[in-house]
Amino acid sequence: MQNLSRRSVLTLGAALGVTAVADPSKAWAWSSAESIAAVDTVTDPWKVWDDATDPLVASLLDNGQIPAVNAAFASWRANGDPLPAGLPANLTTYLQQVNTLPSWADQTKLARAAQFNKRMSLYLFLLYGLGSGIMSTVIPREARNVYWSEGGAVMQSRAAKTFTYGYDLSALDAFQPTGGFVVTSNKTRLTHAAVRHLLPTSAKWRAVTDDQDFIPISNGDILVTFHSLGTYVHGKLKQWGIRMSAAEEEAYLHQWQVALHLLGVRDDFIPASWAAAKSQSAYVLTPIMGSTPEGVALADILLNLVSQVDLGVTKGFQREFARYVLSDKIGDWLKLPRDYASRTLIEVGWPAYVAFREGLSPIIPTSFSVFDQFVRGLAMLFLNNGTSPTYTPITIPTGNRPG
Ligand code: HEM
Repeated sequence: MQNLSRRSVLTLGAALGVTAVADPSKAWAWSSAESIAAVDTVTDPWKVWDDATDPLVASLLDNGQIPAVNAAFASWRANGDPLPAGLPANLTTYLQQVNTLPSWADQTKLARAAQFNKRMSLYLFLLYGLGSGIMSTVIPREARNVYWSEGGAVMQSRAAKTFTYGYDLSALDAFQPTGGFVVTSNKTRLTHAAVRHLLPTSAKWRAVTDDQDFIPISNGDILVTFHSLGTYVHGKLKQWGIRMSAAEEEAYLHQWQVALHLLGVRDDFIPASWAAAKSQSAYVLTPIMGSTPEGVALADILLNLVSQVDLGVTKGFQREFARYVLSDKIGDWLKLPRDYASRTLIEVGWPAYVAFREGLSPIIPTSFSVFDQFVRGLAMLFLNNGTSPTYTPITIPTGNRPG
């Protein structure tokens, strides 16, 4: 954990749209009474991994079966597809159990979330891409995990795979038989289990990690990442004054609750309401953010990937926008260069752009076209799967970062 003072934690929390910030020196104290399971217990999620998946994937890796699994998975795309033929029997048995929605999933809410995602799409591309994506690089464990895992050396294809997850989550039929999100989540869950088995064999990762017992990606870590995605985005939309009905807010949370379940997070850790999510985020995310050499390197790579497409703005503007949505503290940690003229334009122009788009102001801001081209360019980047010409399937790694 970085040595953040309580005051700077509060400032960072406010900048990220999380108002309540717990004292980082306090132990885990989030009661599961506020979770989907609604049981009044306090369990440390950083000591929980994925018992249903980890031993299975470890054995598949040890037996050299993963390349054949990846090959069989290539044609497995839609939730309603039959499980691919030719998988090891123990993997088929496992998938028969997990390749389904939880009993508490509510199709009405999921359908409402899909419509909400569509209506919010331009803001979502921007906030997930420049907000959450760059925030992941100041989550120390995630930055070190991503950097030292196999995909850390090929960030363009890794970004494209992450876009696949986002694309499948945001599709109108994401949770329907024709959609692909349940399948993509299962591939991701298996990928995380592989990382848990592989990264501990990396001497370079072991030299820098603070992960419990040298096992990465605990339930606690996944919750942290959820807050950098869903909770952060929800907070920003509220902060920007974007109109959302109570039902839409609930639906957007529900989609993430199901997503967390599909990634193997226990129901007693999944927040049941936005209030519970925000209080959990205050414990798990805000206090642990900080700078690492791996995170600085990854942020630079990711921002350069975004710069490859023409967003009609300078690199300086793009870096300042990342600072604007994440805070200057995070921008400084990541050594993002300053461009004060762009910052002034953003601070005046962005709220005016949002107000006009949302029908809260009749005045077209003079900078409207700058922001419009910028957000539409980011949307195209996402829809083109991160400049990759074709759909990039998620594949289970078989090694760590080479070299
Ligand atoms: C892989 C999503 C949490 C570390 C992936 C992939 C997706 C994904 C879609 C497959 C694409 C790829 O290979 O890059 C998510 C989501 C999370 C989450 C939605 C939480 C809501 C985490 C956390 C960590 C982590 C907490 C580490 C602390 C990794 C690593 C890979 C990976 C190391 C593998 C990269 C490789 O192939 O080398 N994740 N993840 N993820 N994730 Fe996550």
